Amino acid sequence: MTRFPALAVVICKMNSTISQCIAGYAADALNSLSPAQIDFLRKLPKAELHAHLNGCIPIQTLQALAQERLLSSSSLPTEVQAGIERLQNGIVLNEIHEFFGLFPAIYALTSAPEPLAVAARAVLTQFLEPSLENGDYPQAAYLELRSTPRETPEMTRLKYIETVLDEVEKYPAEKAALIVSLDRRMSDDVAKECVECAVTLKKAGRRVVGMDLCGDPLAGNMEEFAKHYRTAKKAGLRVTVHIAETKGSHVADTLQLLDFQPDRLGHATFLDAAQKDFVCNSKIGVEICLSSNLLCKTVPTLEDHHISHYLKHNHPIAICTDDTLPFRNSLISEYALLLAAPPVGLGLREDDVERIARMGMECRFKST
Ligand code: IMP
Ligand code: ZN
Repeated sequence: MTRFPALAVVICKMNSTISQCIAGYAADALNSLSPAQIDFLRKLPKAELHAHLNGCIPIQTLQALAQERLLSSSSLPTEVQAGIERLQNGIVLNEIHEFFGLFPAIYALTSAPEPLAVAARAVLTQFLEPSLENGDYPQAAYLELRSTPRETPEMTRLKYIETVLDEVEKYPAEKAALIVSLDRRMSDDVAKECVECAVTLKKAGRRVVGMDLCGDPLAGNMEEFAKHYRTAKKAGLRVTVHIAETKGSHVADTLQLLDFQPDRLGHATFLDAAQKDFVCNSKIGVEICLSSNLLCKTVPTLEDHHISHYLKHNHPIAICTDDTLPFRNSLISEYALLLAAPPVGLGLREDDVERIARMGMECRFKST
């Protein structure tokens, strides 16, 4: 049986600033910058608006949770061990659908309130606490964390959201808030329950600011989801949806999702010209996840990325990480992709990068 290094547990417990493992496109961009450029990016107030809790758990925290599980029950399913080792070594995806196979191993370790709280705390720390490796600055000035409520033998979906909220609310409202995700594979009843929980908690004054739609981009009946987002909007929750994420995304789905009147869009990679015009005219903010798109191979190169379209039209965008665990990125390294010289980055000027960071802050869902 593989044992996870005890050292990982020590690092997590001793160090409130969890060290981040970054690699790939974003790390190359960051490494290509001068100290002055890195300093500029560190000091820029940045909003992280598209980060999935279970996709952003620092690897050391995941290892520590696995270690704890081993100590308490002395066994860990081989698939879970294999999944963690895969994440540890760095994943290579041939296409986006392979990505969803990474989550069962992670979910096995965050299936009860206590480990879920540990994971949420580590994600909040990773984004919001100053760290030595980031020159004593935090990655983000503001985090809108999102997560899909899961029912397990140890918790209800309501308990899941409350557990994450308890951690989010340890930070002031101007720093952190929660978006509740629906998964496209959810049954109608489960989706309804999640929206009811989100609405109830918002009405009780808890810091739920919006709803998301995520998961397998080809799954689900968008007509069924429409009524849930109407209920959420009526209760004052804002809405963001992953949209047109893959080449195979159905046009009918895209049109229905735009019909939900979302406040923001995730990815929006394969919108056609008319849909892009609609988004620009309606001023719907677009969450841009550069590394995620490159690693899932939905965009071939940075040069081909749809960010250029939105920059050309001065349309509101927010630069985001999506899933720092499998993608091994960080918010500052995503910004490095803007600033680094081509072909490593987009070669934007500092004043443009500053404007983009401001746009990200303006795209926040307000906690009212
Ligand atoms: P969670 O919602 O905290 O459990 O975060 C992980 C979940 O986010 C995954 O199971 C997916 O459903 C979803 N997710 C993460 N990244 C993406 C993405 O790029 N597209 C669609 N769904 C995603
Ligand atoms: Zn996402």
